[in-house]
Amino acid sequence: MVQKYGILAYPARHSLSPVIHNAAFRAVGIKAVYETFEVTQKDIGDFVRRVKSEPISGFSVSLPYKELILDYLDEVDEEVRKIGACNTVVNKDGVLCGYNTDHLGAVLALNEVVDNLNGRSAVILGAGGSSRAIAYGLLKEGAKVMIFNRTEEKARLIADDFSKIFKREIFGGSLIDVWKIEESDILIQATSVWMMDSSFSEDPIRGLLTIEFVNKFRVVMDIVYKPLMTPLIKTAMDLEKMVVMGDKMLLYQAAEQFRLWTGVEAPLEVMAGASPLK
Ligand code: ATR
Repeated sequence: MVQKYGILAYPARHSLSPVIHNAAFRAVGIKAVYETFEVTQKDIGDFVRRVKSEPISGFSVSLPYKELILDYLDEVDEEVRKIGACNTVVNKDGVLCGYNTDHLGAVLALNEVVDNLNGRSAVILGAGGSSRAIAYGLLKEGAKVMIFNRTEEKARLIADDFSKIFKREIFGGSLIDVWKIEESDILIQATSVWMMDSSFSEDPIRGLLTIEFVNKFRVVMDIVYKPLMTPLIKTAMDLEKMVVMGDKMLLYQAAEQFRLWTGVEAPLEVMAGASPLK
């Protein structure tokens, strides 16, 4: 029987996950297809019932459901509980188990340019499900993390949650104040801002991306992969910074998902080669 997997998101149709996962299934000889499940919030309950009855063997969770999906799962692993967000669901004979592979994806992506994150300072823009996972991954590696978000309370909440878990001071504040920071090792853009193609020229976050601001960092990472060359990455490249583009985190988090679903090591090169992002 052909197993079914997919991505739960809204919108989902532009996702690159199907191309990457289908190439991986083919490469290792597993009979499976990976589809898009574009579901509105009011239909999530129906979708979860469908996963169990069809059955769908597992699915990725993307924007904007990484936190909301927790209400629908039967079990979550310890890291999902700590992070407060889930991007991977495994259907174990009708029991839906939640995992998070974003934190590993972010660390492995950064490791391409920084081998050891221990003691490094990082500024994270955004306080959604992805930011939570990235902050967790970096803190676990021993990095110092500051989180800034348009909605300040959300940044503070992450900082408070993780201060308790990691037993150390973590700053959470308003995006407007990110200007005030001194030099830092790593800047991570983890909002969904560039994905909204309309009117982003007037967006407040763009104002932060001046040469003067970006110059405060040694490494610049953007999690957005459409477009791959975001305005931030462009500025960073012009300044000859080390950059990590959104395709890297996409790849590494997908590889770990593949391993969780199949128990087989992911064919990383095949997955990277399948991505049309170059
Ligand atoms: P994800 O699962 O990818 O983290 P999310 O949970 O929907 O997605 O979070 C999106 C993040 O992008 C949030 O931090 C959001 O800020 P708010 O918490 O204030 O909503 C941020 N974001 C989205 N559009 C933005 C914009 N135009 N300017 C600044 N931040 C933005």
